[in-house]
Amino acid sequence: MHIITDIAEMQTAARELRRNGTLALVPTMGALHAGHLSLIKAAKRGCTHVAASIFVNPLQFGPNEDFNRYPRTFDADCAALQAAGVDLLFAPSAETLAPEGATTFIEVAGISNRLDGVSRPGHFRGVATIVAKLFHIVAPDRAYFGQKDAAQVAVLRAMVRDLNFSVELVACPIVREADGLALSSRNRYLTAEQRISATILHRSLAAAADLHAHGERNSQVLTATMLKMFAADPAVIVEYAAVVDPDTLLPVAETTRGALIAVAAHFGETRLIDNLLIGAAHA
Ligand code: PAJ
Repeated sequence: MHIITDIAEMQTAARELRRNGTLALVPTMGALHAGHLSLIKAAKRGCTHVAASIFVNPLQFGPNEDFNRYPRTFDADCAALQAAGVDLLFAPSAETLAPEGATTFIEVAGISNRLDGVSRPGHFRGVATIVAKLFHIVAPDRAYFGQKDAAQVAVLRAMVRDLNFSVELVACPIVREADGLALSSRNRYLTAEQRISATILHRSLAAAADLHAHGERNSQVLTATMLKMFAADPAVIVEYAAVVDPDTLLPVAETTRGALIAVAAHFGETRLIDNLLIGAAHA
């Protein structure tokens, strides 16, 4: 695996790979786990060559968020990516990819202020800006993202559509622990007690899906059920439980084919999210 920190060098190396086959990009912030590696596997299946990036993006963290303490495990990440068969790793410094003084940003209006965007103003602007830069530098044929960050997928799909990026976005299924907790780099912040509490995210989504499967279509009934489950654990502060359109992230009154049920909650200092798409099989 070729590790590159320089933008011009990355552009050249990516161009070389695109000359004989298709190129996938898997953007990450490192602290890699099996969720990230599932994206690499999907990318290997979908394209001839795979590039990954590791960049803890300062633009997408709010002033009171965990940028400084975000886990950085570069050596272990490199070993995992190498073992997974990644060809190129782009790991630029903050000064290289997000230099002070830049004045151009990508703003996906509307969607960026919904779900996580409500409590994280500017977050999706930071995500969209850095992902647009990565797309320009790498020019991948396909880019792989996790459905775990459903709002991020919606924002980036809108960006690709509106700005005519010639890249296909592929959203991959959420990888979970045996007890249902979605893998996240932030799970390591949880105390043993919070780790037990955190299964409420998945359990509340499963309860909502179960209601839907039994014929309930009223979004308010589903979210009320979820909120009631959260209320049973006073140590957990729920931020939102919502039934929305997966593309616009606007609330939908009824669960229809493709509705997204999304949830965010705080476990002490740690904010975690989870979601599920109501599948066609249950529609
Ligand atoms: P990061 O949180 O490192 O996640 C990188 C990718 O892994 C994202 O597409 C995310 O949705 C996916 N992912 C995380 N946990 C997952 C899980 N349990 N199952 C499946 N996929 C999972 O998301 C970001 O970084 C950043 O916002 C980034 C896109 C890199 C831009 O800075």
